[in-house]
Amino acid sequence: MVPINLLNPERRMLLRMQEHEKAHWSLDEVLEACDWTDQAVVVGAGHGLENHGLVSVQERVSTTVDLDAAGRQAREDGLLEHRLWSWLSGQDQPSMKGLQAAFERHEAGPGVGLLKQLGVTIEQGLLVAENPSTIETILRDRAAFLASLPRPMDSTMDGQVEAFRGRKGFILLTDRTERRWSITNQGKKVPKESLIEKAVITEITPELLQSDDWKTAEFRPFDVTLEANTPRTGRSHPMQALIERIRTVFLEMGFSELVDDYVQTAGWNMDALFIPQDHPAREMQDTFYLDSPASLPLDENVMGLWKDIHEHGGETGSIGWGGNFSTKTAQKGLLRTHTTVNTIQYLAAHPADACRVFSVDRVFRKEAIDRTHLPEFHQIEGIIMEEGANLQMLVTTLKTFYAKMGYPEVRVRPAYFPYTEPSLEIEVRWKGKWLELGGAGIFRPEVTEPLGIKTPVLAWGMGLERLAMLVLGLDDIRQLYISDLEWLRNQPVL
Ligand code: PHE
Repeated sequence: MVPINLLNPERRMLLRMQEHEKAHWSLDEVLEACDWTDQAVVVGAGHGLENHGLVSVQERVSTTVDLDAAGRQAREDGLLEHRLWSWLSGQDQPSMKGLQAAFERHEAGPGVGLLKQLGVTIEQGLLVAENPSTIETILRDRAAFLASLPRPMDSTMDGQVEAFRGRKGFILLTDRTERRWSITNQGKKVPKESLIEKAVITEITPELLQSDDWKTAEFRPFDVTLEANTPRTGRSHPMQALIERIRTVFLEMGFSELVDDYVQTAGWNMDALFIPQDHPAREMQDTFYLDSPASLPLDENVMGLWKDIHEHGGETGSIGWGGNFSTKTAQKGLLRTHTTVNTIQYLAAHPADACRVFSVDRVFRKEAIDRTHLPEFHQIEGIIMEEGANLQMLVTTLKTFYAKMGYPEVRVRPAYFPYTEPSLEIEVRWKGKWLELGGAGIFRPEVTEPLGIKTPVLAWGMGLERLAMLVLGLDDIRQLYISDLEWLRNQPVL
């Protein structure tokens, strides 16, 4: 016989099973025979013995049916259909009107449905029952069923259980696993001597090491293959972690961060960017205009410059958009639709200083919520103003950014924005597909000249959530904001 090294509880449990001939042991029987109180010890020892082939374990799942809140209420007050039936039986001419007067709306509504299911029909406003005795039997059975709970589920109850499960909060099914243990032939052959419990050491202490006791002691082996709880600790939300990483990348690349408000004027959000005042994107479906502040004061001079540019191109050589520029429209309050509203104001405040500025911030658009759209999302915005800045530099900067984020394959395609020329779209390659992540370009003279900017300005605005979907492998953007704890815990550390 191969020597087996059993743990003490396993030794005790096997010994007791050898001593008493019994085909099956229940949990209570093992607890009592072994003088234990903790059922986890039985389960653990039984499991260990089973692994050695000394004991076999049978598991049986049993279901108990009990009353839930609505069911308890019905047991006290009577089932709604029962009360309706009693009322109906007491009337000479039971009518819908009468029922609606006798019962409150929340009962009368579903109640009619219940009566119909029982075979009551409505004929010219009157409630008619063809078969009162059948109905009474059904009602009696239902009441008897509820009164019999709780009890173990069996097949005779299938019909009632099915019916009451369809009604909210009536019954509650709970599953319980019951285990029984039997000693195997191999278990019976284990010699008694090897089942004597020994003092085993489960913890190594300084005292133990200082004394000589450890030399003769038996140590409890660790089973490193057993499942254990994963320790949970606090951590950043993946979105926050991603923003941090983006910050780090831009800071490394020599940028400073810009943080600004999201309540803005149409003037800075659009007019300054040479978006025509009759542009469809200004319509209500894209922009959240504010009731308060419905309008915000703007510098008359600045609005004058925009007016010139929009109506006839100002001094830039452009012909503008024509029409009449409205300063009232410019002063409308809104939730920014892009963070370009902030970089443009930064430039207006520092028209002569070369700069590299970025922001990662929230923007708002009237979008229907779906897998890839949210009305509130974030943009990764940036500008570089520098003597000699050009398209090549813009593309290199964006490629460097995405490469540092882990997406080395980036391409650009021509695009259109009213405020940049040339304009481009940035795409990264992911799982063999090109995905559009944002727009970029060089600000047009219509944007820079009125603000006194003489140096070229490279600009971009990219979607943060889109990038997050790539990084986290999501196919639904909403997953980012529903606070699904299980999902959050399982996200990689970014
Ligand atoms: N503001 C543009 C958007 O919201 C992106 C962009 C920014 C394009 C800067 C060009 C320059 O999509």
